[in-house]
Amino acid sequence: MDKNKYFITTPIYYVNDVPHIGHAYPTVAADAITRYWKQKDYDARLLTGTDEHGAKIAEAAKKHGKEPKEYADKISEKFKEAWQKLNIDFVRFIRTTDEDHIKVAQEFLQKLYDKGAIDPKPRLYKGLYCVGHEKFMSPEELVDGVCPDHQTKPIEHSEENYYLRLSDYGDWLEKVIESDEIEIRPQSRKNEILGKIKQGLEDISISRANLEWGIPLPFDQKHTAYVWIEALINYYTYGSQNNFWPADLHLVGKDILWFHAVIWPIMLHAIGEELPKKIFAHGFFTINGQKMSKTIGNVIGPSDLVEKYGVDGARYALLAAFPFGEDGDFSFDRLNEIYNADLANGLGNYVARIAKLCENFVYTVSEEQLKSEHKADDYHDAIQNLNFSKALAIANHYIKDHDIKLNQEKPWKIVDNQTLHKSLDYYVQGLIATVKLFLPFMPQTAKKILKQFSGQIKSDKPLFPRI
Ligand code: MSP
Repeated sequence: MDKNKYFITTPIYYVNDVPHIGHAYPTVAADAITRYWKQKDYDARLLTGTDEHGAKIAEAAKKHGKEPKEYADKISEKFKEAWQKLNIDFVRFIRTTDEDHIKVAQEFLQKLYDKGAIDPKPRLYKGLYCVGHEKFMSPEELVDGVCPDHQTKPIEHSEENYYLRLSDYGDWLEKVIESDEIEIRPQSRKNEILGKIKQGLEDISISRANLEWGIPLPFDQKHTAYVWIEALINYYTYGSQNNFWPADLHLVGKDILWFHAVIWPIMLHAIGEELPKKIFAHGFFTINGQKMSKTIGNVIGPSDLVEKYGVDGARYALLAAFPFGEDGDFSFDRLNEIYNADLANGLGNYVARIAKLCENFVYTVSEEQLKSEHKADDYHDAIQNLNFSKALAIANHYIKDHDIKLNQEKPWKIVDNQTLHKSLDYYVQGLIATVKLFLPFMPQTAKKILKQFSGQIKSDKPLFPRI
């Protein structure tokens, strides 16, 4: 029988900047959920990659004295390396400069044009463009004429652009989101999006006449596609070519939810394609209460975390620190605290205790015991709703509970061999089942423990040395 499919995507990252933990955060989350479904025997596939066209990349390349593609090659590779370091199990690392993406994007755009979703002729557009955001800003969004997020003055822009007729689709989209045909989560974000849709959708410009670094519009080669429109299509490039469309989950930051929840479904609907099933917007984090920025000098790279906490420690700390849909704060103090409490003193210490005990009393695990699982409905519910910190808290709870029980029961004092082994059965089976709950988050560690707890159990080095 064919396996159930589960298609999950991360945003594709701009190559104007090297990877930092703002990029690692959604990627690790997406990987955890992918591994979770794989563990449930789904054909789960994770797509990630890089977003390489547009004014922002062209400017960054120029600043470095490089051609855009050359520059993109270099930075894109850094993302790929970072994800390999974090043990991200992606099915493909897509780049918007890949030939197949360019081809699919152009076919998609042509269909939008043929269906009348794009105006037949360009309109003259005047507006204020923020290159940092790669989007037009309304005067209300600016503070003293400056983009509050990038502290730069947007560029005055006046040119002929093609338009996507979003305004034709507002009523349709409202129903689709209201009814959860596309689930937008968390609920508060769904309400926010619905509120904005109800205010009315305006058509958007989807081409540039004066920007060469982009994909030419198939119906008018003098124009290139607006980077966002083309970037969104990356999901469909993979999905349509691999019989893997629609996406089950687009995981995005709250800053880019509008593009995914409004523009993207309309594009798909306009060409008669299936809609993604769920779009989840995660929160933003600060570092020690401050926005992460080069100017402040507080940017943390994925390898900084990996060096300090190990791959699994880094993955764990990112997702355990605060609920995924909410905003939060990271600091090394806080991460150290989480690492020491949950991993060094928690899971790591408990595994060491049980292993030592089993070694002392020569305990051998049976095949049957290796299949141990907790029912843990609350855990499954939490992880399926992307509440990772809660899922981890539930897993930790099993460890704490068993640790307390172990201290009370003191099996090492049991004289009768049969009673002793029966007691150890309980701890060993419980641990095997609990480790499986950690597996999507800490795959290497979980596999290592499961290996240690198969056959005759021996002690091993500490899994998480204290910091
Ligand atoms: N290229 C677009 C996405 C196109 S998807 C078709 C883009 N790229 S990005 O590199 O700027 O950002 C990618 C993701 O990183 C966003 O989802 C954003 O939310 C996330 N984050 C960047 N900094 C972050 C934090 N400080 N906190 C949490 N997430 C953050 O947008």
